[in-house]
Amino acid sequence: MHELTHPWGTLTLYRWPRRRNETLQAWDNADRYLLNTLAERAQQPGQTLVINDSHGALSLAVAQCGEGGVVASGDSWLAMDNIQRNAGINELTPVNYCWPDEDLPSAADRVLMRVPKSLALLEAQLSWLSAQLAEGVPVWLSGMDKHLPRQLVSLLEKYLGNGQAEYGWKKARLFSATAPGKVLAVAPYPSKVESPTGSLVVHAGVFSQQQLDIGARFFLDHLPDHLPREPRIADLGCGNGVIGLAVLQQHPDAHVTFCDESWLALKSARENVAACFPEAKVVFHHGDGLLGLEGGFDCILLNPPFHEGHTVGDHVARRLFRQASKQLNEGGELRVIGNQHLGYHKQLGRLFGQVEVVGSNRKFVVLSCREPK
Ligand SMILES: C[S@@+](CC[C@H](N)C(=O)[O-])C[C@H]1O[C@@H](n2cnc3c(N)ncnc32)[C@H](O)[C@@H]1O
Repeated sequence: MHELTHPWGTLTLYRWPRRRNETLQAWDNADRYLLNTLAERAQQPGQTLVINDSHGALSLAVAQCGEGGVVASGDSWLAMDNIQRNAGINELTPVNYCWPDEDLPSAADRVLMRVPKSLALLEAQLSWLSAQLAEGVPVWLSGMDKHLPRQLVSLLEKYLGNGQAEYGWKKARLFSATAPGKVLAVAPYPSKVESPTGSLVVHAGVFSQQQLDIGARFFLDHLPDHLPREPRIADLGCGNGVIGLAVLQQHPDAHVTFCDESWLALKSARENVAACFPEAKVVFHHGDGLLGLEGGFDCILLNPPFHEGHTVGDHVARRLFRQASKQLNEGGELRVIGNQHLGYHKQLGRLFGQVEVVGSNRKFVVLSCREPK
């Protein structure tokens, strides 16, 4: 279940945080297809750039290959953390990591890329690759058939100037292209969305890319009115920062901590705060929810995620609820919006002495939670 045998050895890989009765593996056949392709086609030793690895199957296997080194890149702090934890389990040194808008620390000789869930992120990453790679560097991409976008080959042609689909293998598919050595097209991001605070920038792949989420809109109508002076607020899973920005508009004395695991979400939030409230007292936290933050909050605001990559479920929301229950000041409140059918009420009732509905419509419910147990 946890042992991946690859062309250069074997790795022990876990999904983090570890869960009792975990049924999902930390790799799939698209990872194996990419590793086999690298073993068969890489012509000489060289540095491999790995993009969107989720748990280290790609980066750590390449590290075990030992030829030329590996650099990993992606948008997710959780994926970066998973890779480094699995590096530790396998007694490998931490993988050199590069965020989506950073320059590569050194030249890459080939690229292994998992096709991301977000088409916008895919476009931004292809455009970034065209700027970072020397002409002719091979780029191999893979994904499971059920997750692949139809436009993939045309996007490869647009951003890299060439690209083709190859054979399927065990429900995974490979695509190949070579780098053009220059930028052929700039991805149309960040996009803009209108919000009550003004027009907000939204970088590629960030939640509610084209318009304000209807849940967020409803949440904005049900934010807490009565807060202490200079309240300490967390916008947990902030995305483009729309919720925390509304708090700053209503309570200019608030200290707001914007938290997200997506690099480009935090970048969006940072730029939006700088444009709307340059004097505000704010902190930006890139990590797993509130973990690693010191001090309690008077109010934590959360429009929770309902998937992690392609895995849909409320496990991330539940983790964030637990974190929030431990990080409130006395008398503090967690305020959550959720779809009616998700039944967050029950889970929150196990963590808080008081859970009250403060707003609802046919689709959403806003819950106010106090008195952590
Ligand atoms: C439903 S979106 C809400 C975004 C924004 N608050 C809004 O209302 O439009 C959930 C956000 O949670 C972030 N997220 C997911 N897992 C997280 C985690 N473990 N820690 C921090 N943020 C996380 C996602 O990147 C996403 O931006």
